[in-house]
Amino acid sequence: MKKVTIPDVVAMKAKGRRIVMVTAYDAAFARIFDEADVDVILVGDSLGMVVLGFPDTLSVTMEDMIRHTEAVARGSKRAHLVADMPFLSYQTSIPEAIRNAGRLLQAGAAAVKLEGGRSMEATIRAIAQCDIPVMGHIGLTPQSIHRMGGYKVQGKTDSQRERIIDDAKAVQDAGAYSVVLEGIPTALGDEITALLSIPTIGIGAGVHCDGQVLVMHDFLGMFDDFMPKFVKRFTELRKPVRDAVDSFSREVRDGTFPGEEHSF
Ligand code: KIV
Repeated sequence: MKKVTIPDVVAMKAKGRRIVMVTAYDAAFARIFDEADVDVILVGDSLGMVVLGFPDTLSVTMEDMIRHTEAVARGSKRAHLVADMPFLSYQTSIPEAIRNAGRLLQAGAAAVKLEGGRSMEATIRAIAQCDIPVMGHIGLTPQSIHRMGGYKVQGKTDSQRERIIDDAKAVQDAGAYSVVLEGIPTALGDEITALLSIPTIGIGAGVHCDGQVLVMHDFLGMFDDFMPKFVKRFTELRKPVRDAVDSFSREVRDGTFPGEEHSF
């Protein structure tokens, strides 16, 4: 079983092989996704929302990311592992950004992801020059929720479109080996994918990206109150989980569990 490396991910664009990326936050799911042959596992700072129950990603800390990156690293042997840099771990200064990026590699990631384009160019360059591979993230950047006024599709106007194209060029020029395009029109995803030599991985960015990523709780159907247009639920896990816990409760209450076969 060969580990997926950064040259492998980069080569997928040239080969026209679409990149499959999913999020994971613990060893158990990382093991399943790894066995399923996904190319990239992302320990996303979506952790804050889907696991820790915060309304956005802004409360996630480096300690949270390190703990969950270590867990995912223990569960995965083959997939390329990327860890998100959380809010305030890279914006305050370049030395702090390098140190925090390095801590995520020490936790088991092979690369870090950070949000921002032209404004993060110097930071991406400095981290990448330390041989810490960087995946960019532009378009709808959840850590900028307050500037954007919510989770809104970006790049609909001409000026926004120009800015996102400029962000894409900046991220590539700074040395990122790939970039996530989030929440932009399909045509813009197509244009950026054709423009860049590094792979683009889309979430709500249309079918023309070099790969696709989804948050695991979304494609597994774990929530019944969150269904944005870009999400496809490939199963509905919430229902069997709910049914199982209902059955357990019933059997505990009526005394049928544990039976003889579960007793010593
Ligand atoms: O945090 C995350 O899960 C992400 C993906 C949505 C790309 O950044």
